[in-house]
Amino acid sequence: MTTAGPSTVPRSFAARHPVDAEALYARAAADRLGFWAEQARHLAWDKPFTTVLDDTEAPFHRWFPDGTLNASANCLDRHVAAGLGDRVAYHWHGEEGETRTITYAGLLDEVQRFANALKGLGVTAGDVVGIHLPMIPEAVVAMLACARIGAVHNVVFGGFAPQAVGERMAACGARVLVTVDGARRKGRVTAVKQALDETLETLPGLEHVVVVGATGAPCPMRPGRDSWYGDLCAAAGPDCPAVPLPAEHPLFLLYSSGSTAAPKGIVHTTGGYLTGVTYTHRLVFDLDPDHDVWFCTADIGWITGHSYLVYGPLANGVTSVLFEGAPDHPHKGIWWELVERYGVTQLYTAPTAIRAAMSWGEELPGRHDLSSLRLLGSVGEPINPTAWHWYHRVIGGGRCPVVDTWWQTETGSIMIAPLPGTTAKPGSAARPLPGVSAALLDADGTPVTNGTGLLTLTQPWPSMLRTLHGDDERYLSTYFSRFGKETYVVGDAARLDEDGHFWILGRTDDVINVSGHRLSTAEMESAIAAHPAVADAAVVAVPDELTGQAVVAFVTPADGRAGDAALEAELREHISVRIGKLARPKRVVWTEALPKTRSGKIMRRLLRDLVTGRPTGDVTTLGEPAVMDALTAAVAHPAH
Ligand code: WT7
Repeated sequence: MTTAGPSTVPRSFAARHPVDAEALYARAAADRLGFWAEQARHLAWDKPFTTVLDDTEAPFHRWFPDGTLNASANCLDRHVAAGLGDRVAYHWHGEEGETRTITYAGLLDEVQRFANALKGLGVTAGDVVGIHLPMIPEAVVAMLACARIGAVHNVVFGGFAPQAVGERMAACGARVLVTVDGARRKGRVTAVKQALDETLETLPGLEHVVVVGATGAPCPMRPGRDSWYGDLCAAAGPDCPAVPLPAEHPLFLLYSSGSTAAPKGIVHTTGGYLTGVTYTHRLVFDLDPDHDVWFCTADIGWITGHSYLVYGPLANGVTSVLFEGAPDHPHKGIWWELVERYGVTQLYTAPTAIRAAMSWGEELPGRHDLSSLRLLGSVGEPINPTAWHWYHRVIGGGRCPVVDTWWQTETGSIMIAPLPGTTAKPGSAARPLPGVSAALLDADGTPVTNGTGLLTLTQPWPSMLRTLHGDDERYLSTYFSRFGKETYVVGDAARLDEDGHFWILGRTDDVINVSGHRLSTAEMESAIAAHPAVADAAVVAVPDELTGQAVVAFVTPADGRAGDAALEAELREHISVRIGKLARPKRVVWTEALPKTRSGKIMRRLLRDLVTGRPTGDVTTLGEPAVMDALTAAVAHPAH
């Protein structure tokens, strides 16, 4: 086993294998397809591709179309064959401190058994298998077992309510659902399968439900439909050869938390997706698979979990930490305890988590030896400079680069991020990666070279979504109608500075227009969060007779500060100074917590509903639904 222990002196892979970033940009720019072919050749192909990109049906692009490969073989078999079977794939760490050490050979073993079990249930290549599991190793096993036999997985985040799970299963026509008897969250157990039962009755196409026995929660089983994961694996044969699949064979569907009603079933395929995630994971995070211990805090139910907790790390053969729990359970220093215990070298998390950690105080990370860390990643929203500096100083000890990574469920892998050895400005994700072409366009489609515009991706890339499940029309209209089929419209506004660095300003639907001036929610939130008395903030627009829209700020005061009139006055002044009088909030609502999805996205839609007096819509994707009650009271009864 080759893992870095907690006392290991941090080493820099880049120092030993320097990445010449500028040469890489130049090489990709000179021969984009040749560059991507080179990246794809890091994978193990059963049949090598001869065509790199077929764009005859653009924007339905086909990458490496005549090659065949298998994702699970790339993640497991080839490492075991290379003698790395004893390497730890995952240090799994449970909510209550239990641990499981899963080696590459052990994972391969269980994946083969479960793949055979799925075959025994009649699953064949192209069938959709739903997966609704908490952060337990069986979630990884289920994904890879599907990949092994060409079944298409559709992971539905463990925090989704039964109805949301049912809708997604119906939409994708899943034949099998893999779920769990119970899931643990902050010391409580939810009987997941039991709660799903009523919804499952409404899904005629669902033939089998496989239940992982994880907690012993009450779990009625329907004979003929439901079976235990453990029983199936015990009865299954140990060998299940990976099926070579065409590169364009779908690997998974993932429904994105869209801002409109119907979720979008984003389709990713085998060869292109794997190329994108392995390339970016290796390059952006300066990965040294022989020594690093990688810790991505995302849930497996989101794209970050798919790409950087499962496929990227496994395909690159690195050791990861897989943590079941919440960041504040059993205590608010648990992540730092894990970093020390497992000797984590790279941590990949979200700004919201960093701000939460900030509000809990420096002394918690200060109790642990974090010297194994050598790089810190950020994803999901723009990282405000205050959080960036805190992350850099307190967690990174001032010596680890902070790498802000911009991408989306649709892009499959990171698109914009600084490379090792280049300079990044706090709050900017820097430049598009080699092989990626991005441009800002104004409303008329004219390129913006220095200023604000709509972010677009102007060349296809291997890990791009191929379509929306069963809805080619919506794929075209969502992403390729505004500026034509050559230009993928991201849905984010961004600013491009004089050095060619991109600053993501937020979704185009999160732009607030005050007196005809466009203000970015991200920019305002970043300014408010920069005030020392503030732990976290979100702003939304309310209709205003005078200015069109006005700003309402929801603010969580930092430890020890009270949300009162004095602080409100301070904040208004602070914002005037930072952004301008225009951005001063019309109202500040003090709150102990903001409504966030489990992946940490602030649900501004709910805040808008609250301040405009509309009934609040669907709250099932909230990490902490109870937050809404406190907020409703705060909005109705201002403290002053
Ligand atoms: C949207 C995509 C990518 C995995 C997690 C979210 C925002 C993402 C950043 C970043 C600023 C970011 C964008 C994007 N976003 N990363 N580094 N800086 N904004 O995946 O749910 O598909 O959301 O998240 O608005 O469009 P997602």
